[in-house]
Amino acid sequence: MPTPRVPISPDKHSWQPSLIPGVVTLVTSVDATGVPNLAPKSFVQMVSFDPPMLMFSGQPEGNTEANILATGSFGVSLVHGALTERAFGCIQWQGAERLANAGFTLEPATAIAAPLVAECRAWLECELRDTKQVGGALVVFAEIVAASIRPEIMEQAPRQRYPALDLAMFLEGGLYASVERARPATPEAPGPHSTRWVYLLSHAQPELFTQDLVRAHVAHLAALEDQGLLELCGPFGERKGGMVILRGVDREQAEAIMAADPFVSSGAEHAELREWALSSRDNRHMGMG
Ligand SMILES: Cc1cc2nc3c(=O)[nH]c(=O)nc-3n(C[C@H](O)[C@H](O)[C@H](O)COP(=O)(O)O)c2cc1C
Repeated sequence: MPTPRVPISPDKHSWQPSLIPGVVTLVTSVDATGVPNLAPKSFVQMVSFDPPMLMFSGQPEGNTEANILATGSFGVSLVHGALTERAFGCIQWQGAERLANAGFTLEPATAIAAPLVAECRAWLECELRDTKQVGGALVVFAEIVAASIRPEIMEQAPRQRYPALDLAMFLEGGLYASVERARPATPEAPGPHSTRWVYLLSHAQPELFTQDLVRAHVAHLAALEDQGLLELCGPFGERKGGMVILRGVDREQAEAIMAADPFVSSGAEHAELREWALSSRDNRHMGMG
């Protein structure tokens, strides 16, 4: 029996689901007089390791492409989940109006004249090497001459850098996907990557709960999320406590994080720390499957 297959249109616009997601970036450039421009681009791909070259598919009549042809460089700022709405929405404006309304901050790059977007978490600085007209598109080939990333991401264990970076991938139909989890492509033994630390919170002195205390607890969780250390969190349905699941930490770090949680340090809640071994197909159910 042949594999059942439903034909779909080759027109990418109509794909639902998208079969070729592309990383969402903001491409920054300057014109010959130094006026900056910014445009979202997701047809972006590496083309060579050595020299490190990428390509993006642009438009022959685009401002970005005109600037790059005039000045020979551009920045690629990688968009994360929290910036995605702004990145998608900014194309309702053009040129200076887009920059003024989109709320992105441009700051100087290190190796190129084009600026970078300060709100992003990782950046590539590129020098134009070639262009090619393909169909209606102008494909730009460029060498990556500098790359940088936020220090708090590089402080994480390699696999935890992915949730901390939180790359956004363009899908069709107004959707995007998050790169939230890096998984092994080869079988591996159980280890620290398959451990989570969980702290369970239960009410101790409910009279201590104030709006300020809840805000401080939420700020604690937000800081953990920004560092890529928060897997999941939330109150239980009966609202008598909650659970916080940490990743990328050892017992000592988990204890310190739990003790620093304002719900715990204030005495409002009791906390119990548990080590949790993740059993899944990734690790053949802790090597037993
Ligand atoms: C998420 C997203 C991804 C996009 N990706 C591309 C792309 O890869 N190539 C492209 O030419 N246009 C892309 N666009 C459309 C351009 O951003 C849009 O045409 C923009 O107005 C070009 O601006 P510019 O003329 O200032 O360069 C994308 C738009 C969005 C919202």
